[in-house]
Amino acid sequence: STRPEIGVFVGICTHLGCSPKYVETANFESTQQGGFFCPCHGSKFDFAGRVGRGYPAPDNLPVPPHRFVSDTVVVIGDEGGTA
Ligand code: FES
Repeated sequence: STRPEIGVFVGICTHLGCSPKYVETANFESTQQGGFFCPCHGSKFDFAGRVGRGYPAPDNLPVPPHRFVSDTVVVIGDEGGTA
């Protein structure tokens, strides 16, 4: 994400395409933080969208092109470049 305090991810598991669920608190990767849990085959992603070791998902959650137009509005699919 372009703002580290706000995560912007594609909410599709990189294993087989299920939808990981937000988990506020859990023991992810030996931390006490939550993250995103895929209910289909158990992949776990931390709040930065990184998949933990040993889970079936091969990659982290992708960060889509995006830009913040204000503190409360984000545009997905547009990075605001000159292209
Ligand atoms: Fe997410 Fe398999 S689809 S772990």
